[in-house]
Amino acid sequence: MAGLIPQNFIDDLISRSDIVEVINARVPLKRKGKEFTACCPFHNEKTPSFTVSESKQFFYCFGCHAKGNVIGFLMDYEHLSYVDAIESLAADAHLDVPHEDNGQGNKNREDKQPLYDILKQAAELFQEELKTSQRAIDYLKQRGLSGEIAKQFKIGYAPDGWDFLISRLGKSKDHMLALSKTGLIVTKENNKTYDRFRDRIIFPITDQRGRIIGFGGRILDQGEPKYLNSPENAVFHKGFELYGLYETKMALRKIERIIVVEGYMDVVALAQSGINYAVASLGTATTTEQIQKTFRTTHEIIFCYDGDNAGKKAAWRALENTLSVIRDGMIAKFLFLPEKEDPDTMVRKEGKEAFEQRIKNATALSEFLFEHLKQECDISSKEGQAQLASKANKLIQKMHNSLFKDLLIEELSNIVGLSQQHLESKISSSEEKNIPPPKKIKPVRGQQILINKTRIAIALLIQNPALATQHKVPDNFKQAFKKGLSLLYTLQKTIESNSEISSAALLERFRGSEHENALHTLSMLQTPETENTDNILDVYKDIIERLSIEDRYEFLTSKLEAGKKLTEDEMEEYKNLLQSGLG
Ligand code: CTP
Ligand code: MN
Repeated sequence: MAGLIPQNFIDDLISRSDIVEVINARVPLKRKGKEFTACCPFHNEKTPSFTVSESKQFFYCFGCHAKGNVIGFLMDYEHLSYVDAIESLAADAHLDVPHEDNGQGNKNREDKQPLYDILKQAAELFQEELKTSQRAIDYLKQRGLSGEIAKQFKIGYAPDGWDFLISRLGKSKDHMLALSKTGLIVTKENNKTYDRFRDRIIFPITDQRGRIIGFGGRILDQGEPKYLNSPENAVFHKGFELYGLYETKMALRKIERIIVVEGYMDVVALAQSGINYAVASLGTATTTEQIQKTFRTTHEIIFCYDGDNAGKKAAWRALENTLSVIRDGMIAKFLFLPEKEDPDTMVRKEGKEAFEQRIKNATALSEFLFEHLKQECDISSKEGQAQLASKANKLIQKMHNSLFKDLLIEELSNIVGLSQQHLESKISSSEEKNIPPPKKIKPVRGQQILINKTRIAIALLIQNPALATQHKVPDNFKQAFKKGLSLLYTLQKTIESNSEISSAALLERFRGSEHENALHTLSMLQTPETENTDNILDVYKDIIERLSIEDRYEFLTSKLEAGKKLTEDEMEEYKNLLQSGLG
């Protein structure tokens, strides 16, 4: 997706735009020393902890740890996709976004339009058809839906038969191709085609922009399968989409909370009763992408799955996925319904007020987490406590640094009777396996970070990309023994590909990579080395040289420790290193 737009254009766009201006137009900023501040738009707060650095072109909130460059801000604040954020920034700068000519990307882009078009036309035909089928109307009525709600969700009916769509849309080559690519028609072995959806209630699925990307179809009577969905295709990726999200956004200006349910009918029935902030994860486990997407729209999610075993399993999966995306200021809760009920049946039985009361009383994530683990482990014994601690550690490890994470560790410590420090050391020891014991721990605006030479070197380079043109990282860092050196090498190469690149643009290149978080944190690290701008090149050269020596020393030592023999040259090198006082 990102490959569509030339990287140099993105670099250039970031350096041309001013993050202070972009944010200030949306969230009024106040100057405070070298930086600008405001109350954070990503979590609720009374005193400003949201900071924008003009020199670095980043924003950071030391309340909820939201951070990023100008593109990240637009994505989070305006709920835009990556490409849309770039388009919006370019429009402000009166630039057209170029797309690589003969690239696969551009082709894909053009290929998609006919799919959107055919999906829209099919949805309209299904909607029309609903009006003429008394059986379908009766079915929806019997399920408590009004015509108004059916219209709002563009609910339709696919009539019985085999060639409804083709007979209405025509058999042109383009139509046939688009129909088959979207899975609306299925091709048999003898090249004959037939409609996928026959005699079913149709729920169109929209993307965030309101474009129809697929359908779910429900059988009217008993029968299997109860639901039939569009297959994955170029415009429909099940794990990324949420049924009802677009409708929620349309219905509400400010979305206080979103309730995530399992089914189409749950979303629609909740809306019918006036709870117009439900989305469904399309029958699969709720993915991290779906959770992220939802948290871009609201700061509170209530997961509500069926009261049966499958529902409980789905809730636990959602909890696991939530941990890896949740940040301070975001809230996740779990609503467990009585067995045999789902949100649809429940809200129809009890009505809006009672259901909203259930939402209010939903179980906090932390409570669900520990209650679930306590059921799995017998904490009356030391063995059980250790088992629980180990299971909880595995989960907590996935989290971003946050106050919430600290609180979970605190609670775990109370449950298993181990000190928080002990637990924290266990948690970080698996994250930082190869890094020698921390020399210093320094808070970077609320985040604790271990400081070592490698990290200082990375911080220097990302904060001053021009260093790469003045002093090169040695090529052998590419396959160095020490952790982190290969990242230095990658940074070096990235900067070489565009020697003018700014810090913010450099960070942009690592969006979505495993290093994204670390690089963001290091881009804001302040140490005597990064702050002393007078002889920054000398300091950098010195650190690179020391890292190079340390790397050799650690490599040779590890060889010896593993009982391997050193070659003569290596032995000589090792002696010299020892004499130089490293050992
Ligand atoms: N689902 C599916 N395929 C199936 C069954 C279910 O895709 N064969 C998905 C649908 O998105 C459905 C959701 O899983 O909405 C929940 O399924 P289920 O609980 O079985 O159905 P309900 O939503 O309760 O449907 P209804 O109330 O219409 O019976
Ligand atoms: Mn149901």
